[in-house]
Amino acid sequence: MKEIRIGLLGFGTVGAGVVEGLQRNGELIASRTGMDISVGRIADLDLESDRGVTVDPAIMTTDAAAVIEDPNVDVVVELVGGTTIAKDFILKALALKKPVVTANKALLAEHGAEIFAAAAKNGTDVYFEAAVAGGIPIIRSLRKGLVANRIERIHAILNGTCNYILTRMTKEGLPFDQILKEAQEAGYAEADPGLDIDGHDAAHKATLLASLAYGSHIPMDAIPVQGIRGLASEDIEHAAELGYTVKLLAVIGREEDEIEIHVNPTLIPSDHMLASVGDVYNAIFVKGDIVGETLYNGKGAGRLPTASAVIGDLVDASQDLAFGSSGKSFPFPWRTEPLQIRDPGKIEAGFYLRLSLMDAPGSLGQISGILGKNGISIASVLQKDAMVGQCVPVIIVTHRARQAQCQAALDEIDALDIVETKTVCLQIEDFE
Ligand code: HSE
Repeated sequence: MKEIRIGLLGFGTVGAGVVEGLQRNGELIASRTGMDISVGRIADLDLESDRGVTVDPAIMTTDAAAVIEDPNVDVVVELVGGTTIAKDFILKALALKKPVVTANKALLAEHGAEIFAAAAKNGTDVYFEAAVAGGIPIIRSLRKGLVANRIERIHAILNGTCNYILTRMTKEGLPFDQILKEAQEAGYAEADPGLDIDGHDAAHKATLLASLAYGSHIPMDAIPVQGIRGLASEDIEHAAELGYTVKLLAVIGREEDEIEIHVNPTLIPSDHMLASVGDVYNAIFVKGDIVGETLYNGKGAGRLPTASAVIGDLVDASQDLAFGSSGKSFPFPWRTEPLQIRDPGKIEAGFYLRLSLMDAPGSLGQISGILGKNGISIASVLQKDAMVGQCVPVIIVTHRARQAQCQAALDEIDALDIVETKTVCLQIEDFE
């Protein structure tokens, strides 16, 4: 039996979950893996709060550096979060050739190139299963289980907060603001929800998946990101009438020599497997050229689901130390030349348009004329009879077209006198 002691930086929700998981299943894990993993030291600024687990107060300190440097700490677990001190802690551990386990997607998305280079230089590793989709082992699946495949496409629901809000809007028809407020009160959404509802958290996770799939560093600022803030429940209702469910969807694919990657509220067919993934659940739908379509589903956040991923990484880190294989399998086969990110204008999708249109002869003709002139073909039209002033909501679903074509058409449409307010435009993914 190999004894491994971990140093935990951050004793919040997930940190306490890791302690609980090891206390509950440590013997089972040891019998399966030959690794006896124990918590050697814990650093947190708060030494008082009750976390629902019992630890020896002597192993707790407010001094993170002392934990990282402790010769009895074999593996450092970074659960501090954020992109400043967490980065310093990780680089310090790597410089001491200690493997690091982290759940910090924002840090890896923004500074991953530097962190992974530091790990490689020091012959050690950074393990980050918990950084994407919490308890779902998608990193391992892409790195190992699907290694035989060229990844053709990934469609993923990567943010539990947004999925919870969208699920309730769909089922209960309530407005976005009300559900967000209730979610915050229930602890499902952060007090500052911007990272989640504006799509950035999903984009951080999407860059990590894209980097694993295509071996190229993806700069965050190159990704088109649109969140769900302010989404109208009437659009979710109209989408349902048309046979679609709205999800915050990350799309990752490769087109010629370019990577297509974007995060948007997207209409997906209500009979697609991803449409039934509700509440705080995440799901990743991966199409490989050999395996075909695969779906990974589970809780993307929370104390024990995230701890499950962290503990899985602790076993890998422990076995790599025990077997002398640390630093041998770099997670990203970086190309020397990064692949280009596809220009957002070239992204193809179907489009859902909701116009506020004057109810007068020829109005719809003018709209269809503009769409046709821009090479956009109409799939269906739905006119609602709810008059708002002299206008009615008209919903147009288009066949696939380029984003740039759609934008050009919308610029012309929104400039017309017969169009009262800015047209709502959402992407449609038909998985063709
Ligand atoms: N806040 C995230 C979510 C979990 O709602 O899915 C951590 O990335």
